[in-house]
Formats: sequence, structure tokens, C-alpha cells
Amino acid sequence: MIRKGIILAGGSGTRLYPVTQIISKQLLPIFDKPMIYYPLCTLMLAGIRDILIIATPHDLPQFRALLRDGAHLGVRISYAEQPKPEGLAQAFLIGEKWIDGEGCALILGDNLIHGSYLSIMLRKASARTEGATIFAYQVRDPERYGILAFDQAGKPADIVEKPVTPPSNWAVTGLYFYDRHVTDYARRIKPSLRNELEITDLNNIYLHKNAMRVERLGRGVAWLDAGTPQSLLQAATFVQTIQDRQGNLVGCPEEVAFHMSFIDADQLREQARAIEKTELGSILMKIADREICSYEPGNEPII
Ligand code: G1P
Repeated sequence: MIRKGIILAGGSGTRLYPVTQIISKQLLPIFDKPMIYYPLCTLMLAGIRDILIIATPHDLPQFRALLRDGAHLGVRISYAEQPKPEGLAQAFLIGEKWIDGEGCALILGDNLIHGSYLSIMLRKASARTEGATIFAYQVRDPERYGILAFDQAGKPADIVEKPVTPPSNWAVTGLYFYDRHVTDYARRIKPSLRNELEITDLNNIYLHKNAMRVERLGRGVAWLDAGTPQSLLQAATFVQTIQDRQGNLVGCPEEVAFHMSFIDADQLREQARAIEKTELGSILMKIADREICSYEPGNEPII
């Protein structure tokens, strides 16, 4: 079982300037919660309770002030600095000591994934101890992502980073699960033309060793990133729409912690009291009091 996960919240968020000139992109709100809550929930739903947050030296104190040591969520949160944005795969070099030779997941701090059966898929991925798992999603603008190329039998054969001529429209999402070889492989990667240690190069090592599992996320799953004013607003509207319509919460770590039995009802009440003036707080209180059962009994929780 993969027990550890990194949230990479580095970068300078230049596409969101001037907003992100003074605040980290991953602390901006997506509707009613800070952006980092959403990837945090994804890791927690995979059963991961040991979490490393990597951010710039400037932003790190604010993440620490927000999430502390994670005890209130029944998880352990550690922190590490990425002084310069030198690539996603650098996370495994920065986190090498903390990873300590184990398997490790990685999620990008601006990725929001929501949909039915997602947590089953996540738990399957964290249960795999050999090889890696990535998630593929169909997009309209494949030039912007790491894109899968398939062989004639339809098997993933290669991943191309930001292709000018995309071999497919299946993008690799910002959620990755790797076995214990990850730091070794990350050390083999050389900086790319844009001078970054590319996550695509790491993924290709696993893929070409025949040790990569690619899970396709279907059309019922939403994968959003929030790197521009437009996509930030879209993500907020998405969360608002689901929450208002269903009364279920999207990306609420306190709720996920409770449903995963990381915390009990009293601990959830304490969290709800801290934000009691908000709708989020009153929903959490009702969940603790079992007035709302946001998941049908027997159903897997989804974020
Ligand atoms: C990064 C990865 C890319 C992946 C994308 C997912 O892109 O390099 O392979 O598809 O995240 O969000 P970047 O954020 O560097 O543009």
C-alpha cells in the first residue's frame, strides 16, 4: 500500500497575475475552500495519511498556518521548500529523505478531480505496490498537457509533453502513484529544454519498463485545473453547482477525514465550530450529528 503522498504547490502562478503576485495560487478560493483542499481530499480518499506539501519559501508559512500538522484531520502533514520551479519530478528529490525508500503519490496543488467511483479507483491505485499508476482524461486542448500515444493495439506506448501535433486527446492528469523506485528514477532525469525535470520523463521510464498502469477517467468524472482566471471561475461555479443542488460537499477534508474514520464525530464537531458562521460549518455539524448522511450506506465516498 502506498502510504505517502506529495502535494506540489510551487510555481509562481504567473497566468493569474496580479492576484498571485502576493499570494500562492493554491491558496486562492475555489468557491468556499482554498484550492489546496481539493487535492488534499483526493490523497485522503486514496487512504493516504502521510502528506508532504511542497511550496516556495515565500508561500510555505501560509500553507503551514492553514493546515498545521494535520492532526485535526487525522493525518500527518510535513512541509518542504521548492526554491525555484524546476519541474514536477523535482518533488521526489526534494522529498527524498521524507519518502525514505517507500512508494509515493503526487498530486498537483491546482488539480480538482470529482466523480463517482473515483475513490474506488484511488484506493486500487494506492494498493498497487509494483509499478506506477496515472490517470488519463480526454481534453479539447491536448497541446497544453502531457499526452498519451497509443500503439496499434490501443496500448499506451509513449507520453509526449505539450505536443505540437498531439498523438491523441488523452491527457495525463496531475495525479500520479509510484512504487519505491520513484526517487531512483527521478534522479536519472535530465532537465528538459524548458529547464525542468519533467514528470513526463519519469512516467515514460515506468511506461517503457512496462510498469505503468493507465486508468482512463470517463466522461462522468470532472478533472479541472485552475491556472487562469477563466478556469478558476469555472471550477468555483462547478463546486457551487454540485453543492447547491445535492447538498453534498466537494473537496472538504474535514468531511473526508470523518468518512475515512481518520477523525470521530467529536473531532468533526470541533472543526465545524471553528467555521460555524459558514454554511460549510453548519453542514459539517449536521454530518457529525448524522442528520445528513452525505453518502448512502455501503456507497464509497466520492469527493
Ligand atoms: C503538467 C505536466 C503535464 C500534465 C499537466 C496536468 O503540466 O507537465 O504532463 O498533463 O501538468 O495538469 P504543466 O503544469 O507543467 O503545464
